[in-house]
Amino acid sequence: MPGVTGPSDYSLEPPRHPSLKINAKEPFNAEPPRSALGAAYVTPVDLFYKRNHGPIPIVDDIHSYSVSITGLIENPKQVFFKDIMALPKYNVTATMQCAGNRRTAMSQTRTVKGVGWDVSAIGNAVWGGAKLADVLELVGIPKFTGATKSGGKHVEFVSVDRCKEENGGPYKASIPLIQATSPDADVLLAYEMNGETLNRDHGYPLRGIVPGVIGARSVKWLDSINVIAEECQGFFMQKDYKMFPPSVNWDNINWSTRRPQMDFPVQCVICSLEDVNALKPGKVKVSGYAASGGGRGIERVDISVDGGNTWVEASRHQQPGIPYIAESTCSDKWAWVLFEAMIDVQQSTQIVAKAVDSAANVQPEKVEDIWNLRGILNTSWHRVQVRVGHSNL
Ligand code: MTE
Repeated sequence: MPGVTGPSDYSLEPPRHPSLKINAKEPFNAEPPRSALGAAYVTPVDLFYKRNHGPIPIVDDIHSYSVSITGLIENPKQVFFKDIMALPKYNVTATMQCAGNRRTAMSQTRTVKGVGWDVSAIGNAVWGGAKLADVLELVGIPKFTGATKSGGKHVEFVSVDRCKEENGGPYKASIPLIQATSPDADVLLAYEMNGETLNRDHGYPLRGIVPGVIGARSVKWLDSINVIAEECQGFFMQKDYKMFPPSVNWDNINWSTRRPQMDFPVQCVICSLEDVNALKPGKVKVSGYAASGGGRGIERVDISVDGGNTWVEASRHQQPGIPYIAESTCSDKWAWVLFEAMIDVQQSTQIVAKAVDSAANVQPEKVEDIWNLRGILNTSWHRVQVRVGHSNL
């Protein structure tokens, strides 16, 4: 496409923060240390996890760069970057989480297929851009449209990058048209992240942001947008990122029996402690993040110091010093909530955290119950093993 130099290859990757833990080099997949993640409500761009399926493309001529909007619509159009910039700009604070977050822990019970991630394939950013609902109006699709006259019901995002899962074709995904055209779903075509121009790793010059939905649907480096009758038939919608029961294995899997995963479920993670931590007996700060998909807030975060027999409630906030109230008009609806509790730890134990969202969904206790062959959506109670010693540690 115009404005893109190619073919991109791994030798042209951008520089990255040295503290990122690299889970795969090519394609580049990396996450920050959990302590850094829990330290800031808005995740710094260089510490935001990077999840790729191919080399990072280079878009070097922003003036000729355009997104073609085609498919089952009356007025197909090439939309240039300046057309997007001319639309009203929105800043949406939204947490993006990869469906594979916490996969490594799931694979410890039974092997799963996929890049291993600790607890940091998640981040919270302020995304700046145009609402997809406004962009679709440019091609004649009114707000709150569920189906176009010619039968379009889904919006497919097609990227510039190339990946092996698509046999060298582009990464793609779709969302329902009604979500795309509803301004309150806050789906963006974003060109900024935390007030800076989106960088190459995160989708320069333009990416989709679908708040409350697994990161796989927020397609980076947009090339085209197609309005289609059925959901996207691409690999990552049909043969990946689907949630199967523990009984399904690689011999009996039938991908067509499950729908592509969209919203992510309620999740929380302790970021202030690692399994290897050795502590002195006494008060310990337990803090981390909690988030739920679909715009649901976090109603409660419970902490246990005895492996889940008894619990205390953690305090929650989005802004320092201001207690968070789920569903309040001042809360960032799509964003995570940070939690904190001071607890007394006198002996070596397992510290556990679980969150409850505003629909009263609770994290499952055991990873075994939600084990699935692709290792997605590990939202089981987060456990950290701490060693407490009375001597000088
Ligand atoms: N878009 C393209 N074009 N290529 C990709 O490999 N990865 C997806 C999504 N969008 C991907 C993509 C996945 S699985 C996730 S979790 C998010 O991007 C990660 O976005 P990030 O790297 O900005 O954190």
